Parts: sequence; structure tokens; C-alpha cells
Amino acid sequence: MPVNLKNRSSVPPSFDSVNRMRIVEIMEAKKENSTVKTFTFIDKLCGKAEPGQFVMVWIPGVDEIPMSLSAITSEGLSSITVNEVGEASRALNQKEKGDQIGVRGPFGNGFVPAEGNVMIVGGGTGLAPLMPLTEKLVKVADKVTVMSGVKCRDNLLFLDRIDNILSEVDSETVFTTEDGSYGIECLVTDQVEQKLKKEKFDMIFTCGPEQMMYNMFLLAEQYNVPLQASLERIMRCAIGLCGSCQIGKLRVCKDGPVLNSEQLRSVKEEFGKFQLDLTGKRIKL
Ligand SMILES: Cc1cc2nc3c(=O)[nH]c(=O)nc-3n(C[C@H](O)[C@H](O)[C@H](O)COP(=O)(O)OP(=O)(O)OC[C@H]3O[C@@H](n4cnc5c(N)ncnc54)[C@H](O)[C@@H]3O)c2cc1C
Ligand code: FES
Repeated sequence: MPVNLKNRSSVPPSFDSVNRMRIVEIMEAKKENSTVKTFTFIDKLCGKAEPGQFVMVWIPGVDEIPMSLSAITSEGLSSITVNEVGEASRALNQKEKGDQIGVRGPFGNGFVPAEGNVMIVGGGTGLAPLMPLTEKLVKVADKVTVMSGVKCRDNLLFLDRIDNILSEVDSETVFTTEDGSYGIECLVTDQVEQKLKKEKFDMIFTCGPEQMMYNMFLLAEQYNVPLQASLERIMRCAIGLCGSCQIGKLRVCKDGPVLNSEQLRSVKEEFGKFQLDLTGKRIKL
């Protein structure tokens, strides 16, 4: 059952302040693996974000791209965890401690925490927004199961952090790799299905490649478990104006990025099948 946790701040920040670009200094740049880096910075508004919300990150002279917050602290210390896939993410990952980037946000609707027996399923870098969520869930859920699927051992993320977060609660972790170099050799969704056959879950939270999340959606529907999935789409404005993140009747930047089962059902003709490319053309995934 979703629960309402009280926001840390009593007065919500104004739209203008959220949408205004702030220049922040990178306090730490940590290499997680060969293509992924985590950048820590201080920003008051990001410190008030909900897990699952995202920021638009400006890489001076290159581009502005959406990134989920992979850490959120009330002291305003936040982080993003960036996988290199193209020009902007590559330029971002060349930044080091002391360099500056711009941030707008946090934007969108985050995850709604749930009580009871909850499952968290991350695919690759998709685990990033699920980390601050896990930190919140351990305070309200009875049991937390974290499942992380990657291609190979080098792609694994946050192993120590997961251990720390889960150390004092009833919990389980399952790691899968496609090549068998760590954990169980399979797709993470195969292990999810095994779990769903044996245990009753009250909520599943997921983020990762869209095909994986679509399979998660099918499993959640089959086993009658509510799902919250964080979707990724091309984003330009991040405030619901340009339409570049459209899926069905929803705008992922404003209605999401976290969509619940009901919203996912409403876009099932497009979810896992099509998205708009950088020119706005509808392309097959
Ligand atoms: C809400 C949200 C949160 C995100 N959080 C993270 C995160 O925590 N860590 C992370 O590494 N990445 C995250 N992404 C994805 C990230 O924004 C893209 O990988 C990035 O914009 C790619 O830019 P590029 O110039 O490096 O690559 P490009 O050259 O622009 O693109 C490389 C490839 O990635 C695809 N792509 C580009 N932008 C997106 C996008 N926004 N969504 C999906 N596919 C895209 C392109 O179609 C192309 O196939 C997030 C995206 C969204 C929408
Ligand atoms: S990014 Fe412009 S409408 Fe969503």
C-alpha cells in the first residue's frame, strides 16, 4: 500500500526557482566502472527532491541532458550517476572534482513509497534512482528485496551501498549477470519471475532498459502486483511544453518519469515498442 511520507520542507519551492539553472561545483567524481561515473554536488533544491525525480544537467558548450538523482540528502548533497552512451554523457564523464556543471530541477513525479513486502528491480544504470528510494523504503517497508541485473561483473553498481542500506532490515539481494561473471547467469526478469511464483509482494519498483521494464510490467500484471516504473525518453524542456518525451497521452517529464500500473496500461501500445527520436520521429525501440 502506498504511504504518504511528510515532505522535509513545509513550503514547496516555486516553479521559477526549480526551473532556473544553477551552476554547481563537482565535489566528488567517482569512477564506478569503465563507463559509469558518479558526481556529487551541493544544491538545496535537489536536497528536497523525491527519489525518482530528475534534473536537467547542462554540460557547458555541449548539451543539456536528463539525469536521475542517485543520492539525495537533506544537507543538500546530491549525486547523479552517468553512463556514457553518446556525446553529452561522454563529455560529462570527463568532468572531475572542481569542474562546474549546470542543473535545473528536480522535475517530475518520483516513486511513491509503499509498506509491506517490496521489490526493487534495477537494470544496469537504472539502479541509480532506486538507491535513494531504497534508503526511504527501509524505514517503512517490512521486507525489501533488491534485484540488480547487468551484462557483466564490470557493470555492477553500488554493491557496498546496497549492503549498508539493507544491513538492519529484513532484506534479500539478488544479482544477475548475462555472462555469469557474477551472481546468477540469467536476465534479472527470470529471477523476478521465480520470486513472484513463491512470494506475495505489495509493490514492485523498477528502472532500467525499456524492454526490461516492459517485461517487468507483464510480470507484475500476471502476478497481480502493483508496479512503479521510471521511464526514459528524449527530453528537452523537462516541463511539459515541447512534447519530445510524449508516450501515448502522457508526457514523461511531467506525468512521470515514474509511471504506475494504471498509467502504464494506458500507454501499452507504445511502452517497450516505440519512442520519439531526437528529431521527434516515432521510431521502433
Ligand atoms: C528521466 C531520465 C532520467 C535519466 N537518468 C539517467 C541516469 O541516472 N543515468 C544515466 O546514465 N542516464 C540517464 N538517463 C538517460 C540519459 O539522459 C541519456 O543517456 C543521455 O541524454 C544521452 O545523451 P548523449 O548525448 O550522451 O547521447 P546521444 O548521442 O544523445 O544518444 C545516445 C543514445 O541514447 C539514446 N538517448 C538519448 N537520450 C535519451 C534519453 N533521454 N532517454 C533514453 N534514451 C536516450 C539515443 O536515442 C541514442 O540511441 C535518463 C533519462 C531520463 C529521461
Ligand atoms: S521534455 Fe518537453 S514535454 Fe517533456
